[in-house]
Amino acid sequence: MDAASPALGETRAAALDRVASLLEKNGVEEPRRDARALLLAAGEMTAADLLLEPHARLSPCVQRRLDDFARRRAAREPVTRILGARGFWTQDLVVAPDVLDPRADTETLVALALDLLRERRNDALTILDLGVGSGAITCALLSELPQARAVGVDLSGEACAAASVNIARCGIAARATILRGRWAQALETRFDLVVSNPPYVASGEIATLAPEVRLHDPSLALDGGADGLACYREIIADLPRILAPHALAVLEAGAGQAASIAALLEAAGLEIAEIREDFAGCERAVAARRRDRSRWEDREFRAR
Ligand SMILES: C[S@@+](CC[C@H](N)C(=O)[O-])C[C@H]1O[C@@H](n2cnc3c(N)ncnc32)[C@H](O)[C@@H]1O
Repeated sequence: MDAASPALGETRAAALDRVASLLEKNGVEEPRRDARALLLAAGEMTAADLLLEPHARLSPCVQRRLDDFARRRAAREPVTRILGARGFWTQDLVVAPDVLDPRADTETLVALALDLLRERRNDALTILDLGVGSGAITCALLSELPQARAVGVDLSGEACAAASVNIARCGIAARATILRGRWAQALETRFDLVVSNPPYVASGEIATLAPEVRLHDPSLALDGGADGLACYREIIADLPRILAPHALAVLEAGAGQAASIAALLEAAGLEIAEIREDFAGCERAVAARRRDRSRWEDREFRAR
């Protein structure tokens, strides 16, 4: 895993080549992309700096920082964890140790929820985010729904702390409450939108995951029990109790799980509103509604 010891005052271009080759040797999937991200962060430089002045030399301090980053990435620590930050939806979130590093896949859930709520965007909606993790989903939804309020629940103290930090950074702390607990167990109110990206990896598959995931994401955020669906069963059992009239539930699905999740939702008395694919063509988010009379029907009914 050792980087060839760099000559002091290595140029930016030479550093990029050296780190990319080190990462490639250690099995990193996109070595040059990651080497570039680490170099930019270590040197506090922009992409333009690197392109316009590739032969500028690194200071000893930047060189040391880059070597530390390169060593960690070669040991398969994700770039987002090394840098402690990740872009999600429109925000920059802090990525904390022992908390799931939010993934772009989860933006599919956010987009689906927002699309299905497009006529209620300015309503004072109440949202429940089960397994809030870093707060990624809550931060994205509250940034788009200006009158909404959210409760985020997580069993992990580290996740609750990270979600509180991100919610404060996103300027939505006045509209979000973070609670430590087991799914919706302790909640007695109903919500207009329940979202969740629960752990969904089958226990037996965790050992086969890439080191970036297996060694760095907490098992509490990954382990979905024998068939990967254990957390969905627990969450869905509570939905009839916690969904308000006309409410919506949107759940993220692991690869190949959407049909089973839809069946669990239907068995709980909900109606499937949409199953949406992510950019890779994988069915990634399942939305279901309470089977209420439509709001239009309610208005008709009241007018009689
Ligand atoms: C896959 S992560 C999702 C995190 C975040 N919502 C996201 O999308 O990035 C699942 C989260 O569920 C939490 N969790 C696992 N079991 C739980 C339980 N029984 N009750 C509440 N949260 C739980 C984990 O700690 C983890 O933060």
